[in-house]
Amino acid sequence: MYFNKDIETMPLKKMKALQLERLKWAVGHAYTNNEFYRKKYDDAGFHPDQLKSLDDMRRVPFLTKQDMRANYPFGLFAVPLDKVIRVHSSSGTTGNATVVGYTRKDIDIFAEVVARCLVAYGASEKDVIQVAYGYGLFTGGLGLHYGAEKVGALTIPISGGNTDRQLMLIKDFGTTMIACTPSYALNIADYIEKKRPDYDMRKTNLKAGILGAEPWSESMRREIEARLGIHAFDIYGLSEIIGPGVSCECFEKSGLHVHEDHFYVEIIDPETGDVLPEGEKGEIVYTTLTKEAFPGIRYRSRDITRLYRDNCTCGRTLVKMEKVTGRSDDMLIIRGVNVFPSQIEQVLMEIEGTEPHYQIILDRKAALDDVEVMVEVNERLFSDEVKVLDDLRKRIGDRFRSVLGISAKITLVEPMTIARSEGKAVRVVDRRKI
Ligand code: DLL
Repeated sequence: MYFNKDIETMPLKKMKALQLERLKWAVGHAYTNNEFYRKKYDDAGFHPDQLKSLDDMRRVPFLTKQDMRANYPFGLFAVPLDKVIRVHSSSGTTGNATVVGYTRKDIDIFAEVVARCLVAYGASEKDVIQVAYGYGLFTGGLGLHYGAEKVGALTIPISGGNTDRQLMLIKDFGTTMIACTPSYALNIADYIEKKRPDYDMRKTNLKAGILGAEPWSESMRREIEARLGIHAFDIYGLSEIIGPGVSCECFEKSGLHVHEDHFYVEIIDPETGDVLPEGEKGEIVYTTLTKEAFPGIRYRSRDITRLYRDNCTCGRTLVKMEKVTGRSDDMLIIRGVNVFPSQIEQVLMEIEGTEPHYQIILDRKAALDDVEVMVEVNERLFSDEVKVLDDLRKRIGDRFRSVLGISAKITLVEPMTIARSEGKAVRVVDRRKI
């Protein structure tokens, strides 16, 4: 089943022609209507008129996360603000987060690409879709919500957390699909095992999980499918490009079809920036072909994957990307929240009494990411009363929650406790297995 059969099964040649036509529009739009793009392209000696074939995209300068941060909040918008009807934001709530905007047409396209994913997983208006991604500035909740409504499914905007209530609604409302992170799906399985042995997921109508926002492996898929008795499908996306729905699996579960009519994809060598031939692994670079408010032209995602076409049995001709399992930068995804170690450092540096030596230890407990931050505090504080240390611990924990949006266990240690390295400091110890 398809949501938009013409597009999803379009012959390659026709798709490439459509992409070229849209690319010319998209690059021209960014250049004409956004000062940052115009200056960047002028400085690089590039003009949109030079785009005659898809291969000419190689001449277009890249857009980076730094560019986005430098243009906070609305500097990359290419329409007047009164045409923007929604914003989302990625990672943290600090001043340099990325703010992305959508016109009404952009929101419609966002809903359509998510709807295509849901239909690829077997959804129809007969389904009951429980959206357990966070609602708010994160694109997961509202993204899945509008997609599910577009399909005509009964949509439950429950948002994340509160596992007891999730289980109650699955039963009471007859939920057939749940949208959440893969680690939350596993957490539900653990919760049932430990706290609700009476609850039998097999007696509910739940048949599929719409799982993404963080990397997960085939072994995690097997575990989720076996323990919850559902199909676990991968959904991928990033706020900078639209949100969830950039690509999705089909029933084959062997790679994610990219919605190529809206997103042009290239794979580059992350070191040299050279475009690699189809099939090779590298960093995926996106160009939005239809976005009005916030065009992303050659955005370096830092996600590592491979592109290929394999005559998928589902009939879709859309190029496939391999499951994303790594990044070419140090961004961490903690319970679906994107965090850079540098942001953690910034929070610590702003708190008096801490030393610039810290280590972030990531583990997986009860299927969920567990974060411990070890911080050295200065000698004077350490000899103070316990209450002083308790206060400091609480202050750091509160700042993590409010600024970065993550809960962490804070462990204060004496100076020189954290091993010093001769080269780069080891800031992150990631014990999570994906
Ligand atoms: O995570 C959008 C999303 C919401 C996707 C709900 C799927 C479901 P951001 O918060 O901007 O957007 O984070 C984007 O998360 O560049 C990847 O590194 C990672 N990521 C997202 N989906 C997957 C996935 C949302 N299925 C960043 N597999 C991306 C692996 C993923 N990594």
